[in-house]
Amino acid sequence: MKFFVDTADTEEIRELADTGLLDGVTTNPSLVAKTGRDFFTVIQEICSLIDGPVSAEVAATDFKTMLEEGKKLAGLADNVAVKVPLTMAGLKTCAELSRAGTQVNVTLCFSAAQAILAAKAGAAFVSPFVGRLDDIGQAGMDLIGDIVQIYDNYADLKTEVLVASIRNPTHIVEAALLGADVCTIPPQVLKQLVSHPLTDKGLAAFLADWEKSGQSILG
Ligand code: G3P
Repeated sequence: MKFFVDTADTEEIRELADTGLLDGVTTNPSLVAKTGRDFFTVIQEICSLIDGPVSAEVAATDFKTMLEEGKKLAGLADNVAVKVPLTMAGLKTCAELSRAGTQVNVTLCFSAAQAILAAKAGAAFVSPFVGRLDDIGQAGMDLIGDIVQIYDNYADLKTEVLVASIRNPTHIVEAALLGADVCTIPPQVLKQLVSHPLTDKGLAAFLADWEKSGQSILG
């Protein structure tokens, strides 16, 4: 499973990229606005920090402007994945950009029917939002299971299931059990993944015993 980080904070991305665990980055207009920085500068900076896909989202809602914005964003760096909303204009833009060889991430997916359309439009990624479905009392992870199963029925289908709106480590484990291709993870959740109290306790005991032995590995 690939790990993307869901943030536009370049310092956090730099720190996580250094771990070697990161395969890509997703941003959205809210995350970019939170940085208070210039959109284009932020995207270009992120693209230089990471080799994998960096999602940059269009802001228009009509096809013509969306396509123009998508082309402009794709021109920022080779690893930009243009993010479009799951609307008819977004799907049309996805089809056009995908045909021209640009990676497209179709976002704001909340149903299996929408995911089928994203695949039909040639999307490189479809982003179902699990946390926001959970928030309204629907089982977000059921949608992931459905999409993975549907996509698996068609060997020639290349669209990857990118689980978005992740709120906790359990979401990631469940997505992996279901065979989702990618999780886009907020930085704080990515850091939570590594923690376990028994790891801390075990390490403390090993270190205490090692100290008592009086030995040193490096001499
Ligand atoms: O980037 C899209 C998605 O991951 C947003 O998550 O937490 O705002 O629902 P959230």
